[in-house]
Amino acid sequence: MSPNTAIRADTTADMYDSRFLQGLFDEMQGSYEFVSTLCSFGFNRRWRKQIISRMNLHRGMHICDLMAGTGESWLYLLPHLGRLSAVDFSGNMVAQAEQRKQRLAVDAITVLHEDALSNSLETGSADAVICSYGTKTLSSEDTTRFVGEVSRLLKDNGIVGLVEVSVPHWLPLRLPYLLYLRYVVPFIGMLLLGNPENYRMLYRYTVKFANCSRLQAVFAANGFTVERYSFFWGCATALVATKAPK
Ligand SMILES: C[S@@+](CC[C@H](N)C(=O)[O-])C[C@H]1O[C@@H](n2cnc3c(N)ncnc32)[C@H](O)[C@@H]1O
Repeated sequence: MSPNTAIRADTTADMYDSRFLQGLFDEMQGSYEFVSTLCSFGFNRRWRKQIISRMNLHRGMHICDLMAGTGESWLYLLPHLGRLSAVDFSGNMVAQAEQRKQRLAVDAITVLHEDALSNSLETGSADAVICSYGTKTLSSEDTTRFVGEVSRLLKDNGIVGLVEVSVPHWLPLRLPYLLYLRYVVPFIGMLLLGNPENYRMLYRYTVKFANCSRLQAVFAANGFTVERYSFFWGCATALVATKAPK
């Protein structure tokens, strides 16, 4: 039995434990991008693009992509570089991100195999931070650490954009959407050679995450000016937040 399978079987185990999450995403790497795009009917790409377009980025920026996965957001960020520092703690995701970097032939991308919550990037070095679909696997405590880390990385007036799958606020959509996440997505994941148990975990994280409200509150409490967006009746929520100058 793999360590991940053991943790999933133990309902008291911490699903926010970083070793568990690394194993989860290591296992999912092969199927993740295709399954998520197929299951969201391409909306995942659209929402990434929409949030990046609201960040008012411009050429020459240093952008940090936290929880970068295999670099799914990069195509939309390339016109604005500068340089891009991508951070992810899954070895398999990082290996795939390195391959994407080679394919794109962009020297200005650095891929770091590190924890986004305690990374080696220089304090006050980022004009912008992006995080797409990474925050649902943060515990409440780690959400606070994440906001602290974003704040550390950003220059004054720097901007952060993040988007996350959420529980729809519109009641007629909520139940069918949750059933879809719980049963259909794992089934499609299995058909595409992923482990259905891993895709079922995404449903569990989404239900606990609910939407970006808590993140919004923590950013506001840390002095950020926050704008919040809801996509497709709340199937995803997003924040664009600006760091106040000291
Ligand atoms: C759902 S994927 C999202 C990938 C990509 N950003 C996208 O838009 O599809 C979440 C990624 O966050 C990474 N991740 C989660 N928590 C992390 C942490 N504390 N530090 C670094 N990476 C983390 C996982 O390894 C995984 O690659």
